[in-house]
Amino acid sequence: MHHHDDDTAVALPEGFLWGAATSPHQVEGGNVHSDWWFYETMPGGFLAEASGAACDSYHRWRDDMDLLARNGYNAYRFGIEWARIEPQPGVFDDEAIRHYGKMVTGAHERGLSAFVTLHHFSLPAWFAQAGGWGAPNAVDRFVAYVERIVPVLERGVAGIVTINEPNMVAIMSRVISGKASFGGDGSGLLPDPDPAVVDTLIAAHHAATAVLHRALPGVPIGWSVANQCVQSQEVVPDHADRYRESVEDRFIRPASLDDFIGVQSYTRTLFGPDGVPVHPPKDELTSNGWEYYPQAVAGSIAHVHELVPDVPIIVTENGISTRDDDRRTAYTCEALACIGDLVDAGVPVRGYFHWSLLDNYEWGSWKPTFGLVAVDRASGTYTRTAKPSLAWLGQWSNRGVFPTHTH
Ligand code: BGC
Repeated sequence: MHHHDDDTAVALPEGFLWGAATSPHQVEGGNVHSDWWFYETMPGGFLAEASGAACDSYHRWRDDMDLLARNGYNAYRFGIEWARIEPQPGVFDDEAIRHYGKMVTGAHERGLSAFVTLHHFSLPAWFAQAGGWGAPNAVDRFVAYVERIVPVLERGVAGIVTINEPNMVAIMSRVISGKASFGGDGSGLLPDPDPAVVDTLIAAHHAATAVLHRALPGVPIGWSVANQCVQSQEVVPDHADRYRESVEDRFIRPASLDDFIGVQSYTRTLFGPDGVPVHPPKDELTSNGWEYYPQAVAGSIAHVHELVPDVPIIVTENGISTRDDDRRTAYTCEALACIGDLVDAGVPVRGYFHWSLLDNYEWGSWKPTFGLVAVDRASGTYTRTAKPSLAWLGQWSNRGVFPTHTH
């Protein structure tokens, strides 16, 4: 790696993946066999809004991919929905398997590398009802699903995320079963994950990785962690360290032998001098109430690199919920400039996926808008309208450099 002057942009590493991301439940629509659909439609449920037809991407995925390909991107991170592949225990839907196979091929036809997630929060309702990740045979059930989708992945994928944000999965499993709540103690911190679920998720990840390595030699396999970019003003950062260990580090270390680790970063968690989280003023928040802190992704990458120094890093999610698209561009520009600095310093970052391609269903609410593209759901046409940030972000792949800091 050679040195660059401050006014010289950092080159993108050879083969750098440049894309945007979605997850099936958040964009496809009509995911009727999933646990989320069940929670969204149950009388007196705890979710404000339902996914419904979502962005209708189950039918419009070609339009979604065209938007990326036409705007300079070379990769798309999308997911396969387990609840569609296996709507009932042991009953596999060939039609759904064919569907995702077409998507992988469709990505190739457009010059996009397919980066595929196998589990992104939503589960088959039957699996959740049988105890979810807390059930004794959870690992075998997951592996049986993974074996069934090998033909989809054999069509040629650039990478596979087995489980999206296992730390959030293990936290949510306690929240959904009523044993913990988000923001329940007023601290703004995440509740502790369910320890049994943590172990099961690690076992499921390693078992799925073994199956996939055998079936798809050479395809990079990993999982993606929700990074909190924990910082501390404490003299001895006890509170920060303990929190980071509980919600993050124990999910990063099991990736030490993986082909890559996915970093997913949006904001930071800052502990004040007394070990209590500091809450930034309102005007520094994004539209979903997170601190505007574009440097978070670099802090997250640096931390992951420290814990698993031999593992290549791919930013599998980074973005901002805002109604002001200029703010999205400013955030992303600064985030990428910080990533460029790390690449320049020799940190092995191999790709960047922006969250998200579309304004999508944000797990109980349609209010947050993370998309590079707006979707007209109100009219029922599902018309996609690119925001200026879509082309802005896409250009860097062809230019072959990271943007530089603007101030
Ligand atoms: C998840 C996404 C979610 C995003 C923004 C991540 O936790 O993987 O599904 O939409 O953050 O909240």
